[in-house]
Amino acid sequence: MVDSGTILIVEDEQDMLLGLQRILSKQGYCVDIADSGAAALEKVRQSDFDIVITDLKMPGMDGIDLLRKVKAEHADTLVIVMTGYGTVENAVEAMKLGACDFIAKPFDADHIRMVVRRVLKQVSLTHENRFLKQQLKGSRDVQNIIGDSGRMQDVFKVADKVARTDTTVLLLGESGTGKELIARYIHNNSRRKNGVFIPVNCGALTETLLESELFGHEKGAFTGAVSTKRGLIEIASGGTFFFDEIGDVCPAVQGKLLRVLQEREFMRVGGTTTMTADIRIIAATNKNLEQCLKDGSFREDLYYRLNVIAIRLPALRERKEDIPSLAQWFVRRFSKKMQKNISGMPRDVLEVLMSYDWPGNVRELENAMERAVVLATGGQTIQLCHLPDKILQAQLNDGTPASGLSYREAKQQTVDSFNRDFIKRLLKMNDGNISQSARQAKMDGANFRRLMRRCDIQAEEHK
Ligand SMILES: Nc1ncnc2c1ncn2[C@@H]1O[C@H](COP(=O)(O)OP(=O)(O)OP(=O)(O)O)[C@@H](O)[C@H]1O
Ligand SMILES: [Mg+2]
Repeated sequence: MVDSGTILIVEDEQDMLLGLQRILSKQGYCVDIADSGAAALEKVRQSDFDIVITDLKMPGMDGIDLLRKVKAEHADTLVIVMTGYGTVENAVEAMKLGACDFIAKPFDADHIRMVVRRVLKQVSLTHENRFLKQQLKGSRDVQNIIGDSGRMQDVFKVADKVARTDTTVLLLGESGTGKELIARYIHNNSRRKNGVFIPVNCGALTETLLESELFGHEKGAFTGAVSTKRGLIEIASGGTFFFDEIGDVCPAVQGKLLRVLQEREFMRVGGTTTMTADIRIIAATNKNLEQCLKDGSFREDLYYRLNVIAIRLPALRERKEDIPSLAQWFVRRFSKKMQKNISGMPRDVLEVLMSYDWPGNVRELENAMERAVVLATGGQTIQLCHLPDKILQAQLNDGTPASGLSYREAKQQTVDSFNRDFIKRLLKMNDGNISQSARQAKMDGANFRRLMRRCDIQAEEHK
């Protein structure tokens, strides 16, 4: 298993320092080293580490001193201290000063790995908490919703207005256009923002599941109901309920939902008291509900209850001007997550992204950018060869190279795509054998390898 996280090891004994570095690097962590407290502090000030592992006894600034300074300047960085034989008191002091764990020397590799993994779990929880808090703040910037196009600005205008009310909202739009994102945005900007946001995928609900999940049940209501259970609607009280994929709900469930919407009242299964549902309802679907009304698969009364304020999320192809900022944002996000420092993308890549139709909308773009960041070399930019074939192919089939490309750029793009297809096919025919493929192509082995590198092709993937 490969793990991720950034670690600084501080130790004045060279052998120990390098040994630890080897153990943790092998595990997949990004490891830096320092042989004194002063050098470590310098590094901590320059970059962000998840964990600092420090020896306690060092000449000059010792581990306790370093711990104090790191905690004062970077409260979020977790510090693990290493203590030699007979210095347990020091470890206790270190824990009091904010160290999160200690390792007694001598130790074995397995123990170190286990402690680091446990501490890193704590790091990801802290990050998650910070993220949740940010989400609650609710502004578009904080939530990272991108959309400068006129079409998206119109969406935000309505969303901002409706957020101030308790009105039911119906979000329409193709798959991947950002319906759930806008639902959360409305919640986070409403008076209910400190309450919960509960999304429920209605398509997955059967009638029985719906009843007990949404409304809860009393003890003994049916076999297996050994205790009283609160339903999601009760739990969501004071918050927002998001009925996702509302167009996929079966007729029996539609009737039940209608009651919730109409009366804002419900009863636990097996219960006798009527309860009030204090929830704002937001529903979403990628189906054409009017068509569903016509063919009888969706109830008209439910439709009118839901369709108080409808917001239609435009498809990405209808707001292509948002593509560059969305793509750049996704690259930044994934590059940070994978610690690859990818510095955006050149114009030819953007041109291809702009000329594609994105049937899977923002989600498809997000996935394409994640894949591109995985394939790209750290410290460099995204290249055409990192885009899925489907996207490059669409452009070739179109016959027109991306607008604004020079003859040389357009030719290069076509050549790159040809090379990639050619090599992949050859490797496949030769079961991933590079020398055999090169021979068949009447190419020199080294040239063939160079071309493979240029196209980012791994032989093993094309057996
Ligand atoms: N304007 C945007 N800015 C940033 N990210 C976006 C934007 N719109 C969508 N996304 C991202 O694209 C992905 C798909 O969005 P979301 O799940 O909200 O779409 P959806 O309309 O609910 O799709 P589906 O109908 O398939 O459920 C998510 O990861 C979301 O964060
Ligand atoms: Mg969705």
